[in-house]
Amino acid sequence: MLNRLGDAQRQQRELIEDAAHELRTPMASLRTNVEFLIHAGYRLDKTDRTELLTDLDRQSVELAQLVGNLVDLARSRTVDEPAKTIDLTELTAEAVDLAGAHFPQTAYALHAPQPVTVLAQPGALQRAVVSLLDNAAKFSPAGQTVDVHIDQRTTSSGQYADLSVADQGPTIPADQRERIFQRFYRLDHARSVPGSGLGLAIVQQTAAAHGGTVTIFARPGGGNVFILTIPAAPPTTT
Ligand SMILES: Nc1ncnc2c1ncn2[C@@H]1O[C@H](COP(=O)(O)OP(=O)(O)O)[C@@H](O)[C@H]1O
Ligand SMILES: [Mg+2]
Repeated sequence: MLNRLGDAQRQQRELIEDAAHELRTPMASLRTNVEFLIHAGYRLDKTDRTELLTDLDRQSVELAQLVGNLVDLARSRTVDEPAKTIDLTELTAEAVDLAGAHFPQTAYALHAPQPVTVLAQPGALQRAVVSLLDNAAKFSPAGQTVDVHIDQRTTSSGQYADLSVADQGPTIPADQRERIFQRFYRLDHARSVPGSGLGLAIVQQTAAAHGGTVTIFARPGGGNVFILTIPAAPPTTT
C-alpha cells in the first residue's frame, strides 16, 4: 500500500517536472513574440504584422492543447470515471465523427462485422480512440482513407476486443515504435505538425487502465496499424 502510494507520488512528480519543462519553450517563444510586438510592432508593415499575429495565434492554440493533454494525463491517474458496459462500435463511430471534424480531408472507413461490447470508462476510451484517429490523419497526406476495424477475438485467457486504425502515411521505423509511446516524444517528421507528444502516452495509459494494450505494426504496402486491445464484456441484457 505504502509502496503504491510512493509510486503514485513519484509518477505525479515526474509528470509535473516534465510538464514544466515542456511548457517552458512554447511560453518563452510566445513571450518573445508579444514583447517584440509591444516594442517594435509599430515598425512592421501590415503583412509582417499579420504573419506575427497568426504565429501567436497558432502558438496559443498549441499551448492550450498541451495544457489540455496534461490535464487528461493527470486526471486519468487520479479521477476514476465510472466504467460502463458499452457498445464499442457506437463509441468508435462517435470518435470517427469527432476526428472527421478535425480532419475533413481524411475519410474514415469503419468496419465492424459484429457487435462488440466492452466494460469501459467511456470518456477516457473515446479520447484514446480519437487520439489514434487524429494521428492517422495528421501524419499522412490529405485525401487518404483511414481504415478502422473492430473485431472480437477468443484467446485462452478470454474474449478480447480489437480496435485497429490503419493509415497510409509514412511507416514509423521499427526502432522508434516503442519510443513514440513515451510522453513528449515526437519523431522529426512531426515538427511541422501541431501536437504535444502526449497523445500516445495517454492512449497507452488508458489501455492499461482497461486491462489492455496498444501495439503498432507496419501496414503491408506502407503506413501504420495501431491496435488497441481490451477485454470484451458480455452484452448486458435489459
Ligand atoms: N499514425 C502515425 N503515423 C506516423 N507517425 C505517427 C503516427 N502516430 C504517431 N506518430 C508519431 O508518434 C509521435 C507521438 O504521437 P503522439 O503521442 O500522439 O503525439 P502528437 O500527436 O502530439 O505528436 C508523433 O509525434 C509522430 O511522430
Ligand atoms: Mg497525437
